[in-house]
Amino acid sequence: MPNLEDIIKLVDRQNRWRRQECLNLIASESVMSPLAEKYYISDFHGRYNEHSGPERHYCGTIHSYEIEELCNQIFRERFETPFVDVRPISGAIANMVVYTAFARPGDIIVALGIPNGAHVSSTQWGIAGVRGLKSIDMFFDIENMNIDVENTVKLIDKVKPKIVMLGASVILFPEPVKEIRERIDPKIKIVYDASHVFGLIYGGVFQQPLEEGADLITSSTHKTFQGPQGGIVIGSKNLSGEEWQKVETAIFPGIMSNTHIHRFPALAITALEMNEFGKDYAKQVVKNAKVLAESLYEKGFDVLCPNLGFTESHQILVNVSKFGGGKPVSELLEESNIICNKIALPTDKPQDATRNPSGIRLGVQELTRWGMKEEEMRTIAELFKKVLVEEKNVKNEVIELKNRFNEVHYCFKLG
Ligand SMILES: Cc1ncc(COP(=O)(O)O)c(C=O)c1O
Repeated sequence: MPNLEDIIKLVDRQNRWRRQECLNLIASESVMSPLAEKYYISDFHGRYNEHSGPERHYCGTIHSYEIEELCNQIFRERFETPFVDVRPISGAIANMVVYTAFARPGDIIVALGIPNGAHVSSTQWGIAGVRGLKSIDMFFDIENMNIDVENTVKLIDKVKPKIVMLGASVILFPEPVKEIRERIDPKIKIVYDASHVFGLIYGGVFQQPLEEGADLITSSTHKTFQGPQGGIVIGSKNLSGEEWQKVETAIFPGIMSNTHIHRFPALAITALEMNEFGKDYAKQVVKNAKVLAESLYEKGFDVLCPNLGFTESHQILVNVSKFGGGKPVSELLEESNIICNKIALPTDKPQDATRNPSGIRLGVQELTRWGMKEEEMRTIAELFKKVLVEEKNVKNEVIELKNRFNEVHYCFKLG
């Protein structure tokens, strides 16, 4: 039987290993600021706050409602829209909300498709499938790692989906939101799943999907936007009140009961920090991603899209098939405390895509959060070479490098 000491030791080991001793390049993760972490734990944890608009269904929730509204207000101002809801507890649940609001079982949605970078929630294997929706893959231009607008518009005209899902888990470049919006039936909802790039959008250095014609943004709040794990739905100011009401009803009573209200203070703090530091942070993220990509490329790694400057986001993709594929490569890097994940590239065969795909995906948002800049990106490319080409273990060098960056940046000071 495990005892208390086992549990505490495990948490201490995790804290030490992943925070102090690793270089984290998982593109979907980050760390909160110390101030956000401090206010993550409060009495809000463990309380309920079911409500339909301002009509509260529980007593004792005056401040819960206030803190939720305070979050909504910050995002409303940033995105210049009256329509924000922070109750979905994750990005995938935010997608479920829009599927519930704007489609019925049996309806079609058009989405990117897993090999081209879609999240599973927009496919038949994930939430779209669970909701009874038929998800059809759009056309993809592999060379440019982006949506093939011409053929996708033809597809949309033919299959008449209720929703077109844009945004992606693998996203190097802004997507053609405007081009698609201008060419499809205005009744079809365009939803931009910004989970990965929300911090870059918030910081103003990536595309602005609502301004480009998306009807809604769904997102996680904990990837490049470095808040607590959670979700958000933001509607364009051009939605009608009736349409937004469908979103609200899908959230409650549709999908949520307990909305994890303990995350709201941390979410609000992170958003205020992004108002203050988000532009500098997001600029540095993209700069770092480009430098890491260039440095790896110069060392002979097959980084995708050299002709397009590799990336405009926090991510870069490396084809590591010459080193045995994404699975052994990511595991070998993990032995040196460099943490990243294997990823399917659009050229992979379906049977390889989950087992041992050709790619690894690297995200620099957390390294940037720790204060690393261009020089450190070059050092990290050198560490990749040592591990994968020279077959060395560089754990000690990784720990030494990380130890120089133990303070979270782009945030308010604690206390
Ligand atoms: C594009 C996209 N959408 C949704 C999700 C799911 O987000 P969450 O883990 O917050 O449910 C992810 C997760 O990585 C994602 O990449």
